[in-house]
Amino acid sequence: MNFKTFAVSICVAAAVLPGALAAQEREFGVGLITPPVHVWNQEVAAMGETLGSLSDGRFSVTAFPSGQLGSEGEMLQQLQTGALDMAWLTTAEVTTRIPDMSALHTPFLVRNIEDAARVLRSDEAREILEQMPRATGAVGICYAMTGMRQMMSREALESAADLDGKRFRITPAPPMRSFFEMMGAAPAPMPLTQVYDSLANGQIDAIAMDYESIINFGYHEHAPNLLQTNHQMFPMVALVSGRVWAGLSPEDQAILREAVQTHCDATIDRFVEGEAGKFETLKAVEGLNIIENVGMDFFGDVVAEWDAEWSEQTDYVERLRALVASF
Ligand code: BEZ
Repeated sequence: MNFKTFAVSICVAAAVLPGALAAQEREFGVGLITPPVHVWNQEVAAMGETLGSLSDGRFSVTAFPSGQLGSEGEMLQQLQTGALDMAWLTTAEVTTRIPDMSALHTPFLVRNIEDAARVLRSDEAREILEQMPRATGAVGICYAMTGMRQMMSREALESAADLDGKRFRITPAPPMRSFFEMMGAAPAPMPLTQVYDSLANGQIDAIAMDYESIINFGYHEHAPNLLQTNHQMFPMVALVSGRVWAGLSPEDQAILREAVQTHCDATIDRFVEGEAGKFETLKAVEGLNIIENVGMDFFGDVVAEWDAEWSEQTDYVERLRALVASF
């Protein structure tokens, strides 16, 4: 190689190589509605470590917690355009785009959190994920959860009749709205980030919530009555923007899939292991009145009514009920 050829080669390498290296390096932004203390956020941080080691340091994660990027609906749109790389969202948010996802919110579908974990790891639930790219422009990698839903109120709720006319905060989603409307409550859909203030200023009377969030936010400070209903599981879905996904090599897609799946699994395991202890933590809170083990009977015909209405929207209500009956 003469000097001229060598010099040209150096110039070409200098122009191409840094670009090639830079193209392989990637910082993934992950949006969440939950605060940094939440298990989801802890697992997203841990996912950053896993991604780093699986990619030999090429991949990292920056989390955007507490709805910094907007509501879950806005994050879903950002995933669609590729403005956001990844998000850990409630499945509730996806129900408007994928009605089958509503079946994961079937009231009293599961008897306990162990069964919730089995449903979320089932083939039936994974089948629903396959609809994600077409319906949302995002790839659904896996599910996790934030435990089981309970009810908390400013005034004690001693029977289903006490729910009548109550302004009940719900996660914005049609299957939630139906359930509370059928009970005669006035559903107040609002994002997680607004719940504490709305309770504090009396804008709402009651909330449906999980132990993790109750403890993280201290909702009992303004809603000192807890009904242990376990009336729904509350799943999360880990999403990657379809545009971002399409820009990755098959090898890098495999790395991303493995890292996300590892931390979905860890999240599910942590909720299964931690749920009983969180309830004990709440039992120790002074001034919190708890009615334990409120079963399905408390809600009269509402669960059957909900099933009848939602079975018309999706056959997954019956399929998931059959699945749980087989456990
Ligand atoms: C909620 O909307 O209630 C919620 C969202 C994410 C995690 C926990 C709760």
